[in-house]
Amino acid sequence: MCGIIGFTGTLDATNVLTKGLSQLEYRGYDSAGIAFFENESIRTIKTTGKVQCLKEKVEAANVTGATCGIGHTRWATHGGVSDINSHPHTFGNVTLIHNGIIENYKELQEELALQGKTPVSQTDTEIAAMVIDDCFTGDPIEAIKKADARLEGQYGFCVMFKGHPGKIFCIRNGSPLVATHAEAGSVIASDMVALLDYSKDYFVLPEHVIATLTKDEITLVDLEGNSVEPEMLHVDWDVDAAMKGGYEYFMLKEIHDQPDALMNTIRPRVKNGLPTFEADNVPDEVFTHCNRILITACGTAMHAGLVGKNLIERLAKVPVTVDVASEFRYNEPIMDENTLLITISQSGETADTLAAIRLAKEHGAKTLSIVNVKGSTIARESDYVLYTHAGPEIAVASTKAYTVQLSVFYLIAARFAFVTNKLNEEETKTFIANLENAIESLNEILEKEMDFDEVSASLDNATSLFYIGRGLDECLSREGSLKLKEISYIHSEAYAAGELKHGTISLITDDVPVIALATQHNVYSKMISNIREVKARGAKVILITNGEDESIDESICSFQVSIPKVDDMFAPFGTAVIVQYLAYFCAVRRGLNVDQPRNLAKSVTVE
Ligand code: AGP
Repeated sequence: MCGIIGFTGTLDATNVLTKGLSQLEYRGYDSAGIAFFENESIRTIKTTGKVQCLKEKVEAANVTGATCGIGHTRWATHGGVSDINSHPHTFGNVTLIHNGIIENYKELQEELALQGKTPVSQTDTEIAAMVIDDCFTGDPIEAIKKADARLEGQYGFCVMFKGHPGKIFCIRNGSPLVATHAEAGSVIASDMVALLDYSKDYFVLPEHVIATLTKDEITLVDLEGNSVEPEMLHVDWDVDAAMKGGYEYFMLKEIHDQPDALMNTIRPRVKNGLPTFEADNVPDEVFTHCNRILITACGTAMHAGLVGKNLIERLAKVPVTVDVASEFRYNEPIMDENTLLITISQSGETADTLAAIRLAKEHGAKTLSIVNVKGSTIARESDYVLYTHAGPEIAVASTKAYTVQLSVFYLIAARFAFVTNKLNEEETKTFIANLENAIESLNEILEKEMDFDEVSASLDNATSLFYIGRGLDECLSREGSLKLKEISYIHSEAYAAGELKHGTISLITDDVPVIALATQHNVYSKMISNIREVKARGAKVILITNGEDESIDESICSFQVSIPKVDDMFAPFGTAVIVQYLAYFCAVRRGLNVDQPRNLAKSVTVE
């Protein structure tokens, strides 16, 4: 949730830290702070508000010669948004930043109170600083080892100790930390994006291993004192991929990235027109030995799973259930060695999704994950991984990560059906060709961008609306509705079109617009009837069709928006782009911060 960075080297640490925090700001943005060695002592500057507020404070502070420090952007969990609750936190000899939640902080606080030690903030993080300080008798590594045994919960810490200038000590449990040593020095962060300026080679700090960063090297030791060799990874993202590239918002850039991101995800997995996961080391037995599939994920990723269910059941004829990951493990799912659990995650760090994988493994089920971030925890803990190649997604609202997740489900469904003889070679090749055509057709939608601004203008006064659809369109309705709520703050509900009249239609008035997705021809006439039902109750309707329907007139909708005509099964790609645009323009027209919507964080690493 929070963004973390630590740097020690030959550059101005305040610049490195504030730049890194800007790159990490999408992870949390209610307050920010840095701490750095100024000669032998540690100085902290922190504030509520955006990283820009912190930058202004740092500039006014006239810092010179700082080359080692830590920085943090916060997404509040324990304790409200205030300067005092912002990180870094200092207690005694210890100054630290933290990503995660200390679950036993109350007990620890009571223990420390017996020694007369009281925190000044309301955070669990300050308690962690107090515990580490309590364990400190001169050796930072020993103190962290002892504190690690006392702390429960999830944490990624970067710690500086009074008397140890130029050094940063780090440990994690659950929360991500990646690090690199480059020419400029050593850098550690919660996310690869903040390392890209220094190196594309990095490693994931193993859990319960203590990293010591100096300007010359990073050393790792486990809790028994054995040295640990990091497993190096390489990322092919470049710095430009993590920049806005001339677009006003990351979200808009990421909408435009989609045709390339999709092709980058699909092309390496298509040989002679057929889908293959050979290079991903996913054997066909994963499909041939499974008699049921469970899919779980959160938010947008779960919506990709709904489309996945539809495709796999239709093509491979294997039963699939989809559940939100925050409910999954509490619903006592039935799993055995013939079950395949498919999880989906852009960040690869979502706590509930990770917990589902761990539970599936306890039951002997196989786990396959669809993940965007290389080396992330979900990727490392799954039996099999299919990486999406979306590049960094910075806007909190997921766009390109969603459509690449969809594309992987198309490949899975096709490969599954092919190896289980549900589709023959020719049918499979036609399916893949249709997939590629649907992706190419997205460029036509992107070229019509400003049309969507015009359509969105009709929602300027809306405070509540409905998205409706049937079949695949119902899955896409959920994504369109989430996107709209997330960034434009318009209340929206996604509904199966045929279900409205069983109660909810009472909410339809002339103030409640309806966005109707009608790209599926097998239910098209039924959709038109459902649209007439809401229209008769005063709703203003925006209709999305698969190819233009010239017979549609004002008696049915105020606007008809069409995707370039594709085989129905491939309509989700075009529809996804349109619903993303509608949400985007609604938010822009309301003057909102599209990339950083209120109360949200990009990566949800707490349950
Ligand atoms: C989408 O716009 C969201 N910001 C959110 O629903 C997101 O998809 C969800 O939190 C899952 O994240 P993940 O893909 O990183 O696991």
